[in-house]
Amino acid sequence: MPEETVIRKKTALSGIQPSGNLTLGNYLGALSNFSEFTSEYNCYYCVVDLHSITVRQIPAELRRRTYEVLALYISCGLDPEKCTLFVQSHVHEHAELSWMLSCFTMFGELSRMTQFKDKSAKHADNINAGLFTYPVLMASDILLYQADVVPIGQDQKQHLELARDIAERFNGVFSPTFTVPEPYIPKIGANIMSLAEPTKKMSKSDANENAVIRILDTRDVIIKKFRRAVTDSDTCVRYADGKDGIKNLMTIYSCFTGKSYDEIEREFDGRGYGDFKSAVGEVCADGLQPVKERFDKLMADKPYLESVMRDGAEKASRAAGKTVSKVKRKLGFVTL
Ligand code: TYM
Repeated sequence: MPEETVIRKKTALSGIQPSGNLTLGNYLGALSNFSEFTSEYNCYYCVVDLHSITVRQIPAELRRRTYEVLALYISCGLDPEKCTLFVQSHVHEHAELSWMLSCFTMFGELSRMTQFKDKSAKHADNINAGLFTYPVLMASDILLYQADVVPIGQDQKQHLELARDIAERFNGVFSPTFTVPEPYIPKIGANIMSLAEPTKKMSKSDANENAVIRILDTRDVIIKKFRRAVTDSDTCVRYADGKDGIKNLMTIYSCFTGKSYDEIEREFDGRGYGDFKSAVGEVCADGLQPVKERFDKLMADKPYLESVMRDGAEKASRAAGKTVSKVKRKLGFVTL
């Protein structure tokens, strides 16, 4: 008889900060890919509220957005029965492991993080220690659950690489303790750009509302924002260097329609930018419509969202507790 082999189900994990109203970048780069993993992986998706306070937040807004991000997870197809949806601050092991791993992370490594450099330039009056050690907390989120794969957008790749380095370092000093995670970065949509300055990433915190499509924007607003999108002085829809605005719109169109850049170029051959921008607005508004409808229903049922948070925290704590105990034992802490 063949020897029985136990195959461990792989784990996927990701998180989104409730630090602003989520954007089309968050949706295409991360959120819309989360559900792909639910049938074959153990999935953990968290609302990373601890990360959010590295930048000043208005408490009532942070609270509201925490519910909203959870509701968006479910609206985007994540079934709380099939995956663990939870709020980071409900599982104390995140902060605990973060301290321990910060002793395995070098000052130089953290200084090289581009997000730290960008954010400290943007928030020069509040360059706090949390902003600096932010990637260690992110590594803890990932390593606590022994994640094999982490679906993220392009801007989080450097943080994921650091998480891998920390895991390898710890495993090397002691013995294999952490799974070394792989990023999952979508081929198309991993780097959605601002509609106003298409060389800059579309960001939740952009002060210019016209630069950003919010997942929860109304249909009219979405269409209007795309009509105003910055393009170039050419008139031809082509995926080519120097045409950052058009490339970004083609990427968005491709994500919603599944069409290749060649197909899009052919479809809009001889038609102006106006036509193209309207078409992008339409497919985006159509694509987000069902998400919004489910979201509105969920937000009207706070007790349900709280029950999801409670169950999620319980399941996540069980897995996180195991890893923290293992780490403490390896470090030499006395356990009673
Ligand atoms: P956050 O909250 O900034 O963004 C959430 C996810 O959205 C992706 N994203 C984008 N993708 C494409 N184009 C864009 N313009 C765009 N903007 C954002 C991000 O890459 C991310 O995947 N540090 C993380 C949150 C985090 C996390 C984790 C992620 C905390 N712990 C553990 C994965 C695993 C962040 O600030 O994401």
